[in-house]
Amino acid sequence: MMKMDPIGIVLGTRPEIIKMSPVISYLIERDIEHYVIHSNQHYSAELDSIFFKQLKLPPPHFSLDVGSGTHGEQTGKMLQRIEQIFLKEKTSVVLVQGDTNTTLAGALSASKLHIPVAHIEAGLRSHDRKMPEEINRIMTDHISDICFVPTQTQEKILLQEGIAPSKILITGNTVVDAVLRNQGLMRNEILSTIGVEKNKYFITTIHRQENVDDKKILGEIFNAICEAGKKFGYDIIAPLHPRTVSMLEKYSIKLSNKIRVIKPLGYLEFLALQKNASLIITDSGGLQEEACILNTPCVTVRENTERPETVDVGANIIAGIRHQSILESINIMLHKEINWSNPFGDGTSASKIVKYVQKNFQE
Ligand code: UD1
Ligand code: UDP
Repeated sequence: MMKMDPIGIVLGTRPEIIKMSPVISYLIERDIEHYVIHSNQHYSAELDSIFFKQLKLPPPHFSLDVGSGTHGEQTGKMLQRIEQIFLKEKTSVVLVQGDTNTTLAGALSASKLHIPVAHIEAGLRSHDRKMPEEINRIMTDHISDICFVPTQTQEKILLQEGIAPSKILITGNTVVDAVLRNQGLMRNEILSTIGVEKNKYFITTIHRQENVDDKKILGEIFNAICEAGKKFGYDIIAPLHPRTVSMLEKYSIKLSNKIRVIKPLGYLEFLALQKNASLIITDSGGLQEEACILNTPCVTVRENTERPETVDVGANIIAGIRHQSILESINIMLHKEINWSNPFGDGTSASKIVKYVQKNFQE
């Protein structure tokens, strides 16, 4: 049999490592040739190496040491360094996931060298171009040879944007594969380690640029979350992204003792905390999906979402970023009946994705 050129995978941040893990594991389990490039956009152990360890992923084949910086600086370094690897490594197709600067850099480097690009979690739109992620999504989708979309919603969006039907495949979202693969390994003991009881606490994570970089918005969001904890009688556990911690410090925003800020957690601990929480209050994309999959109601502290399926099934509410609307949304979701079903597929996305790329780019 002819030897195929390997599949190249580019990743760089916490959500990419988690959502790409089912694809990488699928390739390893079937001995399919591939290599992984890590941009090191995320490099702190709690945003990076802990996930390789917990998800049993081997170390990446290439680590680019790009680190933090302005958008141009970070993306520019990635383009230079990823291109050097693509120029040397034989590659049949490049897989990128999501909407980060790493996603765009991986897709752009490959596409300029005429290497086919496959975008996992394609077609999401918040319709808000002030978000860096929205620019990354649009650009990546339009230079990809195949867009793997989670649901019909994104298929419709991409068709409206003029992307050919032959370049779109509905696969579900690999976040479901990741949850199903790991839910049996959840570390429930994290509840007693932290000192919270099932259904007696909220989890909150806030890290979006547009929420944390503005002093007034950041202060108002945390003020509302703390007040909700007090008013409704719940502890609030906040495993905050380092970006948020440093902005709270920079702006000297003091938090009430109702909220417990802790370091970001490993995936197995964090799944357990999400599953057992009364409510998840977040601006994260991945948490909106996982909350929906784990049957925990979600309050999204943003003006929009690119995950409307979570709202449509009744698992999520778009609270906006104002004090009153956040409190009202929390009240609504605390009384929400949990009767939705997960719209993001049955956990076979990785297999659909790999089968497609093997058939179309390797045969
Ligand atoms: C990035 C993605 C965002 C994604 C998030 C997942 C872009 C434009 N943004 O945002 O879409 O939701 O990752 O968490 O790609 N920092 C550390 N340690 C690290 C990495 C970052 O302390 O390992 C701090 C640095 O101060 C850095 C800041 O976080 O300046 C922001 O990091 P950056 O990679 O620019 O964006 P994120 O906010 O992590
Ligand atoms: N996550 C984690 N530990 C934490 C917070 C989040 O393992 O302390 C996981 C979470 O389960 C989800 C992913 O990180 O799979 C979400 O990443 P993030 O919110 O940083 O990015 P986004 O999804 O918004 O791009």
